[in-house]
Amino acid sequence: MSDKKAQLVLDGREKPIDLPVYEGSTGPSVIDVRSLVSEGVFTYDPGFVSTAACDSNITYIDGNAGILLHRGYPIEQLAEKSSFLEVSYLLLNGDLPSPQELASFEEKIRYHTMVDEQIHEFFKGFPRTAHPMAMLSAVVGGLSAFYHDDLDIDNADHRMQAAIRLIAKMPTLAAMCYKHGIGQPFIYPQNKMSLAENFVNMLFGTPCEETTVSPVIAKAVDTLFLLHADHEQNASTSTVRLAGSTGSNPYACLASGIAALWGPAHGGANEAVLDMLSKIGDESRIDEFLLKAKDKNDPFRLMGFGHRVYKNYDPRATVIRGICAEVLDELGVDNDPLFKIARKLEKLALEDDYFNERKLFPNVDFYSGIILKAMGIPTSLFTVIFATGRTPGWIAHWNEMLSNPYKIGRPRQLYKGETKRDYPA
Ligand code: SDX
Repeated sequence: MSDKKAQLVLDGREKPIDLPVYEGSTGPSVIDVRSLVSEGVFTYDPGFVSTAACDSNITYIDGNAGILLHRGYPIEQLAEKSSFLEVSYLLLNGDLPSPQELASFEEKIRYHTMVDEQIHEFFKGFPRTAHPMAMLSAVVGGLSAFYHDDLDIDNADHRMQAAIRLIAKMPTLAAMCYKHGIGQPFIYPQNKMSLAENFVNMLFGTPCEETTVSPVIAKAVDTLFLLHADHEQNASTSTVRLAGSTGSNPYACLASGIAALWGPAHGGANEAVLDMLSKIGDESRIDEFLLKAKDKNDPFRLMGFGHRVYKNYDPRATVIRGICAEVLDELGVDNDPLFKIARKLEKLALEDDYFNERKLFPNVDFYSGIILKAMGIPTSLFTVIFATGRTPGWIAHWNEMLSNPYKIGRPRQLYKGETKRDYPA
């Protein structure tokens, strides 16, 4: 690892504690604090603001510079030149596929897009009004029932098979969540279609007529999935890793990631952005909401703004803003009032000291919902679409952890409760 070290001097101790320091290929170095438990002290880092939980080769983020790399490739270049499935292959395998490798990967995905017919029965138990994320987390966890027993997580081929199944089936399950909610029959995936075309067709197609999917819309969906594919050790990915560290099967691990993603502080923000823009309703009310966002006594936050890591523009937000304009133009809604409010809100926030001092910029969720709404996708399905995009990242991190020596994740605490006391006689 490294011969660099840090020294920890604790009051009341004669000798300082030497702690190894490790350098990554880029980014901050880390202090190995594992030996501290034998010194009788823990580190303290609620929210893991300054904690590296693992080694990883998959994604690198430079929050100050607004840089996002997947296996070294800048997200802007991948968004322009690659595809969701090519990036999925990259995240899983470490390098871009040859044309033959990509064709073979796409073929494998194509032949795993259907789900067991029994899964259709799961949906019959949900009320039509069930939130799609409630359905998705349940049915993805339920996939364990179909594959748990023939899956050896220590077998690399079994892990890759699980990755293929999950990447392939998530669009189908996502569309089923939507169809169940509107009382329409499920549409089966079509092998002649690409993953994104299939997804749009499974959302909006019916058995009554052929659906043609606009290439602009299909490309926008594919790029949205690509932009959401991975993001280092975010809350839901860390949840997948923690669940995986106990030896749970990948379907159960991804169900836990979906649950973590649902929160409005994380993947649920795209839905919350649309609710916020609709509440603002008119450009004349933006200032009122900016004041609320700055008021410490008001729980309101500017949804789609701010980020634990990015203290600069989230590069994904910049790409999505561009796609937004294209899709709205394609759909003939380029004067979409919500898009106009979002653009004005972004401008005013970026001119405001409160947001500048705290380095609060638009994140991936700020514009994505406007595109999805313009496509006719209900806001309640937005985080399901985020989860569909994030699936290759979740499973790549799960696979990376299991491909190397790992320990069960078991954080400690600063105990501030009652010390020992006897039960009353
Ligand atoms: C995602 O981790 C990832 O990588 C996540 C993600 C991924 O791809 O996986 O990028 C996806 O989750 C994007 C984030 C989506 N969430 C939102 O848009 C919700 C709104 N944002 C905030 O809730 C917040 O910015 C977080 C949760 C995203 C980050 O919170 P932090 O890092 O814990 O920051 P903080 O709460 O300590 O805020 C620092 C300061 C505070 O003010 P002070 O106490 O210093 O005066 O900034 C303020 C906060 O009040 N602040 C905001 C704000 N975000 C932070 N004030 C108003 N509006 C906001 N959005």
